Amino acid sequence: MEIKDALASQDFEKEINVKGWVRTKRGSKNVAFIALNDGSTIHNLQLVVDLEKIPEQQLALMHTGASISANGKLVASAGSGQKVEMTVEQIELLGEANPDEYPLQPKKHSLEFLREKAHLRFRTNTFSAITRLRHAMIFGIHKFFNEKGFFNIHTPIITGSDAEGAGEMFQVTTLDMGNPPHDEIGNINYTEDFFGKMANLTVSGQLEGELAALAMSKIYTFGPTFRAENSNTSRHLAEFWMVEPEVAFFDINDNMDLAEEMLKFLIQYALDNCYDDLVFLGKRLEEEEKNKKVDERSMDLISKLKFVLENSFERITYTEAIAILRNSNHNKKGKFQYPVEGWGIDLQSEHERYLVEKHFKKPVILTDYPKEIKAFYMKQNDDGKTVRAMDVLFPGIGEIIGGSQREERYDKLLRRVEEMHIPIDSMWWYLETRKFGTVPHAGFGLGLERLMLFITGMGNIRDVIPFPRTPKNLEF
Ligand code: 4AD
Ligand code: MG
Repeated sequence: MEIKDALASQDFEKEINVKGWVRTKRGSKNVAFIALNDGSTIHNLQLVVDLEKIPEQQLALMHTGASISANGKLVASAGSGQKVEMTVEQIELLGEANPDEYPLQPKKHSLEFLREKAHLRFRTNTFSAITRLRHAMIFGIHKFFNEKGFFNIHTPIITGSDAEGAGEMFQVTTLDMGNPPHDEIGNINYTEDFFGKMANLTVSGQLEGELAALAMSKIYTFGPTFRAENSNTSRHLAEFWMVEPEVAFFDINDNMDLAEEMLKFLIQYALDNCYDDLVFLGKRLEEEEKNKKVDERSMDLISKLKFVLENSFERITYTEAIAILRNSNHNKKGKFQYPVEGWGIDLQSEHERYLVEKHFKKPVILTDYPKEIKAFYMKQNDDGKTVRAMDVLFPGIGEIIGGSQREERYDKLLRRVEEMHIPIDSMWWYLETRKFGTVPHAGFGLGLERLMLFITGMGNIRDVIPFPRTPKNLEF
């Protein structure tokens, strides 16, 4: 029986079997208590071992981290905490964990330490809670889109084009790197490579997603995404997961509505399905922030989630945002690391967070950015300066979603591709969809790990994906 089900059971007659890993063992003369966890819930099942029935020697190797199997019956628990515990009839050691070597002791370990023990950190309360929440979010994403009639499509992991045009790609090759073939002018000869041309890992499934949307109307792709940006921040990964819906006949307002509805659905889904894990993570956060000044502490986790559910997102243009930032006391007093001087600058995460946390005090959707700082595929506004981009900004995170209405006019798109020196021979198929039955359409990308940061209240993106890939870090 799973421990989650055992803890909810009221059947005190049936003999059950549970298996899991020992969290703690303590005892007195006549009785030993083992807190057992199997990952199904944040809560442990307390095993009560009568040492007159089971010799203490049999428990000798059942230290923290050991795996065991136990048979017995559930009984109403006298102590506080859980409603039931289990009186043990039989108990068996499956695998020992020598306390002199096992790194996870029943005490608080730092998140940095646990990152170095990523092979074992699933066994901590924090990471098991995060793992269950991550599953719930993935499942919730599929549920949300399925219920709205979207089709999930798989877009390729290996591509011959640069979807974001930012050149931050990981190359894929089977050429001998020590001795690659060259052409007449000395460049590497990719015609001899596996695909007969240069290949990379995808930075986004959007372009292929658009092809599908321009036939299926509503699609989403959800897959691993790779970016070789050398930014060692608490919000960037080299390998992350992105969900990208794309909808035909949508304009940017429909797109914003969909993004807001999706985020609220997912927050509600977490509250409905992982409440105990959120309570645990909320307490963890409170503990972590104890030493901060009261006004620097973040809102209690569950209140923060509910707050976002209950408020509509502020929608403003980039131009309005620049005016707010520029005129802010924060800017005038030189408190931004990157001062806001004028229209056209790319917003830094400190600016995004100022708008969300200090100015509006709720999520913000920024639209209509300067075309120079956005990707080639975004729909151009009539002002000739801005594009129909939208970024959703969240408290504590900054950008959680990036998206846009797409440029559906062939000539305008082609001109932008040329202006940005994007090789047309890697993009002809994308351009062709604008020749044959083009329609207005829009979409966006949500980074799963950015969402997880928000939902869990964790501060570092390396702690919300099981095995983070970041610059100079490829362990596990
Ligand atoms: O804003 P981005 O670059 O947008 C796109 O890739 C579009 N093609 C999406 C679309 O319109 N279909 O990335 C989208 C989101 C960001 O808002 C962020 O949440 C996440 O992906 N993201 C990252 N997450 C973790 N690590 C990184 N290095 C990330 N880069 C982007
Ligand atoms: Mg973006």
